[in-house]
Amino acid sequence: MTRTAMALAPDDSLDFFVDLHPPASDFRKDVLDGLAARPRVIPPKYFYDADGSALFDAITATPEYYVTRTELSILERIAPEIARRAGIGAVVIEPGSGSSVKITTLLRSLDEPAGYIGLDISKEHLIAACRDLSEAHPGLFVGAVCADFTAPVELSELDMPAGRRLVFFPGSTIGNFEPGDAVRVLKHLRQWLRTGDALLLGADRIKDPAILTAAYDDAEGVTAAFNLNLLKRIARELDSDIDPADFRHRAIWNAGKSRIEMHLEARRDVRFSVSGQDFSIAAGETIHTENSHKFSIESFSGLAEAAGLEVRDHWSDPSQHFTLYWLERGAEA
Ligand code: AVJ
Repeated sequence: MTRTAMALAPDDSLDFFVDLHPPASDFRKDVLDGLAARPRVIPPKYFYDADGSALFDAITATPEYYVTRTELSILERIAPEIARRAGIGAVVIEPGSGSSVKITTLLRSLDEPAGYIGLDISKEHLIAACRDLSEAHPGLFVGAVCADFTAPVELSELDMPAGRRLVFFPGSTIGNFEPGDAVRVLKHLRQWLRTGDALLLGADRIKDPAILTAAYDDAEGVTAAFNLNLLKRIARELDSDIDPADFRHRAIWNAGKSRIEMHLEARRDVRFSVSGQDFSIAAGETIHTENSHKFSIESFSGLAEAAGLEVRDHWSDPSQHFTLYWLERGAEA
């Protein structure tokens, strides 16, 4: 590891911390540009302030949001298969260090894992997640890289254990990207794989639209609160008089694009300002806040192939609601 990386180590419990200084995103600019655009749109990454992250955790506990618990059940069922494929001494690399339950389940499945490398755009979140993981797995080599995995990230300079790499990308996060961007992200992840390394990725399946829309519009209103929290955040952080009560949460299945779209729909004609800029939105007009693409085995395999990845195996739950894919470097696309 380089001297700079050592010098930056913020915490003795980490074996390394490397800050690649991902460009800070600009909430104000993205909101102003997005509200001026047609259709109006705000990027989903802004959901996850402290309240939004807590609301997302609450979503995963609703009866309708099958995604998290289904993926976890598959992961638990296939643990021996994953262990066999990964072999002894694997190094798990997780872009977007997220769910401690999933990573713990994966690490427990593996035979003497040699290391864990977390990668996240938020330095605070990354360090907290990696520190917790290190404390829960004494003796495990734990490294942290502050970087944006939607851009290429060079891992070859990093001093990590030599075992087989297992890149872990769960949660159907890949579904948040438009297909072209999804292929780009997969190509970046592919760069980390050498011959024999693998990408273990979770992707949500196309299913009965009633199940999908319920998952994104739960009866208790947790997902609605998650979506509307974006407006609260604008009011709080961007000098705005926008009133979340003027909007309603909408979850729509777009069959043509095979995705759930979340929108915030104006309940009436509304006027508000953000950072001194005035906006008016007509009743019924929406702000598009998230896409969550759903895949068939074939459609996902097509994306993977376009990124130079080969599906070597895949596992689903009995209802075929969710699929975990084992991908390896294929022919360059
Ligand atoms: C964390 C992006 C995978 O798209 O299902 C959950 C986010 N949005 N409910 C998803 C989310 C509304 C979730 N991802």
